[in-house]
Amino acid sequence: MRRRALLDGGIAAVALGGAGLLSGSLTAAFGREDLPPAAAAPGPAAPRPAGNAPSVPAAQVPVGGSATVKDPASGDAVYIVQPSAGKYAGLSSVCTHSGCAVNPPKDGRLYCPCHGSTFDAATGAVITGPAVKPLPGYAVTKNGEQLELGPQQAQA
Ligand code: FES
Repeated sequence: MRRRALLDGGIAAVALGGAGLLSGSLTAAFGREDLPPAAAAPGPAAPRPAGNAPSVPAAQVPVGGSATVKDPASGDAVYIVQPSAGKYAGLSSVCTHSGCAVNPPKDGRLYCPCHGSTFDAATGAVITGPAVKPLPGYAVTKNGEQLELGPQQAQA
């Protein structure tokens, strides 16, 4: 029974592939022999735990550049930008004029190819219309070497 539990736990750990889940699987295998390992560990199709924010390595966001992540609430693309060294922000890629996708930041601006609006790459503020509203912003938190996208911020 113990050997079978260890084998099953090992297979489940490989299938899950996460260190945190591996820890849970080993706990199930070693500490709870009364339960079959399959009942103690979630299957490979288990949903991601809440709080797993979209993130990118900070090294992928140069000063003046960006990396793209997806807003889990809307599914829209969001640019994580670094307008100046060590300052990060998230800006929606959806133009506030008619919803086209704006281009990634270049020369301090984001340009919408549909009708020519431009937005400030640090704040999302409108530089030139026809858009009149800024790009929605997101909080970005640096956690170690990762940049994590927070929720969309309220518009002023
Ligand atoms: Fe972007 Fe019109 S949709 S300027």
